[in-house]
Amino acid sequence: MSLFDIATRAVRILPAESAHRFTIDALRTGLARPKAEIDDPRLAVTLRRSGLRLPNPIGLAAGFDKNAEVCGPMLAFGFGFVECGTVTPRPQPGNPRPRLFRLTEDQAVINRMGFNNLGLGLFVRRLSAMPRAAGIVGANIGANKDSADRIADYVAGVKAVWPYCAYITINISSPNTPGLRGLQDRGALEELLGRIGAAAREMNTAVKNRPLFLKVAPDLDDNAIADIADVVLAQDWLSGLIVSNTTIDRPDTLASKHRGETGGLSGAPLLEKSTRVLAAFHAIVGDRLDLIGAGGIATADDVIAKLRAGAQAVQLYSALVFHGPLLVQRIKADLVARMDAAGATSIAELARS
Ligand SMILES: Cc1cc2nc3c(=O)[nH]c(=O)nc-3n(C[C@H](O)[C@H](O)[C@H](O)COP(=O)(O)O)c2cc1C
Repeated sequence: MSLFDIATRAVRILPAESAHRFTIDALRTGLARPKAEIDDPRLAVTLRRSGLRLPNPIGLAAGFDKNAEVCGPMLAFGFGFVECGTVTPRPQPGNPRPRLFRLTEDQAVINRMGFNNLGLGLFVRRLSAMPRAAGIVGANIGANKDSADRIADYVAGVKAVWPYCAYITINISSPNTPGLRGLQDRGALEELLGRIGAAAREMNTAVKNRPLFLKVAPDLDDNAIADIADVVLAQDWLSGLIVSNTTIDRPDTLASKHRGETGGLSGAPLLEKSTRVLAAFHAIVGDRLDLIGAGGIATADDVIAKLRAGAQAVQLYSALVFHGPLLVQRIKADLVARMDAAGATSIAELARS
């Protein structure tokens, strides 16, 4: 057992949010110092529409590094890309604690953090100070809870982070900011994307080629999926979708005492649902959009399931709570061993085999 495995177990004694803060501080101060390794070239993927080149298809999902404090160390742990945020224009404290719960029996997490973050100013300063060579860093943007014009918050976010990140994610799928998911409704989405599109065109004249993704919820019926796909396909500047954020569902199978907490559920119980929604989007958009799959990934099998459902890359977060940051190396080693066994020359070929 490595030092990181021991630390992962020790940190689990702490309440969930204190454990998270401790982990970020340990990474930030260099107490936990990962050793970067070069990926097997067969793990590399280039997203078809955006052209984003990833050394491997496994990304860190948003919410772990809300304030862009530890993107470098997380890339060094072996993630192919790291998405920091969600950041809102103004700092905000989020919901009262406790607001983060480990459902250990279910290998799941419930959170109702509510976009706690230090605001765009500090976020952008940190991003701009980061060496480009560290790797692919995306910025996930949101709206302040008390904003009078939430769409204006997204426009401000896009403009502020644009020069300093490899891609931008528009997050309209957090269940913890009341009304936010309403932006997924057809009319609201058209207005949102219309205004962000105008900002994107403006920015594109200064710094070109900044892929933008829309992050959606898994709690969507077939009509909502068809509407979102339709509206998104009409925007030529949007590269793709991240499917998905946390769910407000509470499957009957949940055993943990925390299962009744309000918030978004993530981790193992989200795998099947988020993969189904991903496949439903893929059935409509095919290769016209880049799809990034998230929700419940903890193993190489889970990664392959997302790729088979139409994802070109994936993200994970909750599994780190239970398995620690070395998980990403283990999943990659497993994928490489499977490519060896199958004689596959790429991860896409492995997924097809
Ligand atoms: C504690 C916590 C905080 C999160 N915060 C954000 C966030 O700020 N923005 C966002 O887009 N997603 C956020 N997410 C959702 C994750 O990025 C991811 O989409 C979701 O958890 C599903 O992946 P997982 O099952 O691997 O965790 C958060 C998830 C957790 C567990």
